[in-house]
Amino acid sequence: MSTLWVGTSWKMTKTLTEARAWAEGLREHLDTVPDGVQPFVIPSFTATTTVREILGEDSPVLLGVQNAHWEDTGAWTGEVSVPQAKDAGAQIVEIGHSERREHFGETVETTRLKVAAALRHGLTPLLCIGESAGVKEAGGSSAFILEQAAGALEGLSEEELARVVIAYEPIWAIGEKGRPATVEELVEPFAALGAEYTRRVAGLLYGGSVNLGNAADLLGIDHVTGLFVGRTAWELEGYLELLAIAGRS
Ligand code: PGA
Repeated sequence: MSTLWVGTSWKMTKTLTEARAWAEGLREHLDTVPDGVQPFVIPSFTATTTVREILGEDSPVLLGVQNAHWEDTGAWTGEVSVPQAKDAGAQIVEIGHSERREHFGETVETTRLKVAAALRHGLTPLLCIGESAGVKEAGGSSAFILEQAAGALEGLSEEELARVVIAYEPIWAIGEKGRPATVEELVEPFAALGAEYTRRVAGLLYGGSVNLGNAADLLGIDHVTGLFVGRTAWELEGYLELLAIAGRS
């Protein structure tokens, strides 16, 4: 069985005190992380080093950042580079989340540049793809997400591709305004992604309103090898429960 990735992005939440409490709690419960499950956590930039220090250098929990620039250094006010993220202890770079595409001008081209930058520095690109409700209603979900993925991964060798994790996160299913996807709705997009990427990438994750009630069913969908979670994992208890569910899957 392939490794199941189960991780969370905290988005723009948590003070350092809250980040510390969550990370210390996880460290105390590391013995409950099931075999075959790869945990990861993606705090705000401000908490990266704090979480790294708490988890320790050789933690089985991978640490990520929610974005990074494609250039290594220079006059890019407000941005953080992949080498800086790595220096702060990150091993994963989240790229192309729909909130960044919608509000911060992320495009297929910038996702491609950022995937390349992460790989260049030995970090794992976590590429997020997903279609809007409009695209879904028009019946174009699979074609749309395959195009987003192909654009971001263009030109990679098989060795490089094997280090990429893809998270399919339909925009209509994400966050407070989203509605949880049904298993039936996800079968076709994952079949399409699986036909192209299963066994070629490190993981094919689902994200969007994952909760304790639907996690097991989502992990049962063909080609799904993990969950990328927001709200349900922001309380440590929820995250630990998701890890346990993955362990039973
Ligand atoms: P959610 O967020 O689990 O709170 O819907 C998912 C995401 O944006 O990755």
